[in-house]
Amino acid sequence: MERIVELASAYREAKVLLAAASYRLFDHLEEPRSAAELAPRLKADPWALELLLNALVALGFLEKSGGRYRNSPEASRYLVSSGEEYLGHWLRHADRGFKKWAKLEEAIFKREPEEESRLEFLLALDSMARRRAEELAEAVNLSGRRSLVDLGGGSGAYAIALARRYRLDATIVELPDTADATREILRRRGARDIRVLEADFLRDDFGRGYDAALVSNIVHFLSEAKNRLLFRRVYDALAEEGVVIVHDYILDDSRTSPKEAAVFALHMLLSSEGGRTYSWSEVEAWLREAGFKSFQRIELSESRVVVGRKEKT
Ligand SMILES: C[S@@+](CC[C@H](N)C(=O)[O-])C[C@H]1O[C@@H](n2cnc3c(N)ncnc32)[C@H](O)[C@@H]1O
Repeated sequence: MERIVELASAYREAKVLLAAASYRLFDHLEEPRSAAELAPRLKADPWALELLLNALVALGFLEKSGGRYRNSPEASRYLVSSGEEYLGHWLRHADRGFKKWAKLEEAIFKREPEEESRLEFLLALDSMARRRAEELAEAVNLSGRRSLVDLGGGSGAYAIALARRYRLDATIVELPDTADATREILRRRGARDIRVLEADFLRDDFGRGYDAALVSNIVHFLSEAKNRLLFRRVYDALAEEGVVIVHDYILDDSRTSPKEAAVFALHMLLSSEGGRTYSWSEVEAWLREAGFKSFQRIELSESRVVVGRKEKT
């Protein structure tokens, strides 16, 4: 199973290298430069370029120090165009091949690809969520809590695991266009006791007095401003001494590791408006601003968690 997931995601890492090589990024990093300094030289968006640079550090092609990036010894040797062992011509050729390979199926199958329905999207997320839900439920202690709200709960895999382990009264908040798909998966998993509330967690009332709130794989598709808003709303929705559980690909404060989180930031550049992956400190800063007082960091095998507590007033 690990092999299948790894192989199916390998194109992302390949494309990080190919994109950088195609735009001769390494030629400009024999000297250390920040993303802001490098962006005009490459005619790049500084914000997006920084995500690429962090991913290149995660893959070992760059080194980062004090906010500046420079070539690793391997990149200096093979990826700078003045070098004798320069591989860039071949990499640019490979990048042109990548664009052709992205259409491989069109050369083989004589029908249109299937559109992704909301149900299929949630089932795709569910394949990962079910692998991680038991581990999350074991890692966070919700003993003695009675209610849980799961914001953007998707397939419900996490709400099911937490509700079953801690006997919680659980509510999933989902957008109206997705809520039916959530209900269908809950039905298939025999979890009809979990409520689905159709609401937008950034605009609508989603209830009050919850003992725990789960924010799983949400922060990465929201901008910083929307995350701030979300956590203010979560704080208001929690009872005194309630906890928020933020579960996601969370970066180290360098923003260059773990590798999966640094590369996933680029996936969100392509799939969201202003989203990316965030660091431990960034998540904790939003929670602190919202009013949460104490924090716990938890490492899971494939993801990370920050738990924030609301104190008694
Ligand atoms: C990346 S999925 C995460 C699903 C689940 N929490 C998990 O960890 O697998 C994001 C989910 O949030 C929902 N969502 C996105 N924006 C939302 C909003 N403003 N209000 C409520 N749900 C939202 C989407 O429909 C989707 O099911």
